[in-house]
Amino acid sequence: MEMKICPSVLACDMLHLEDEIKKAEKAGADIFHLDVMDGVYVPNMSFGFDVIKKIGTVTDLPLDVHMMTVQPWKYFDVLAAAGTWNVTFHLNLLDEAGTRQALKDIHSLGMKAALSVKPKESADLLLPYYDLMDMALVMTVEPGFGGQKFMEDMLPKVGAIRAAAGKDFPVQIDGGIGLGTAGKAAAAGASMFVVGTASFGAPDMAKAVADIRSEAEAAFVY
Ligand code: DX5
Ligand code: ZN
Repeated sequence: MEMKICPSVLACDMLHLEDEIKKAEKAGADIFHLDVMDGVYVPNMSFGFDVIKKIGTVTDLPLDVHMMTVQPWKYFDVLAAAGTWNVTFHLNLLDEAGTRQALKDIHSLGMKAALSVKPKESADLLLPYYDLMDMALVMTVEPGFGGQKFMEDMLPKVGAIRAAAGKDFPVQIDGGIGLGTAGKAAAAGASMFVVGTASFGAPDMAKAVADIRSEAEAAFVY
């Protein structure tokens, strides 16, 4: 399985957004991870859809939008128009039928769809949705802020997801990922690595991305 490195734009120097996007591309990024926070679902606010649209005008890499908002479905059409590749949203915002419908709505707009499990949520909560999901996101920090400490005890969820959804089903990991933690996540079965502080914050982003990728490739067991 190919390892995908997904720099989190939340950690970039926002004053120089275009330069940072180019820097990440040159560094070997595979996918841009874009955290949308509304200050209600999580105690922080980030950027909105116009920023995502602008990012899409300067890169051809896939845009992976992680919605940390109370009503993500309100924005699916705006995200599609902004060129979003994948939309991830969180459990427990809607009932089961509503969550299934939201995943279908994302697909009908031509985007990929994912659900995320937070630290206090069991991976079993994803069971009713795998037929409509393109990947799962396992949070290894409480969502809301970059630069937090990796929660290693979340890793068994990765194996549980692959056991339930199949070994080809991609599991993305988000929170505190960098050298050291990427290998542990890969050994657990994660193949998509959201990297904020450890990528944009590194003195040499290309080296950081390459080192994290090699660590993940060496540790991943199919
Ligand atoms: C946190 C976000 C993350 C964040 C990761 O709520 O979902 O994507 O940017 O940042 P680091 O890699 O610094 O933990
Ligand atoms: Zn995220």
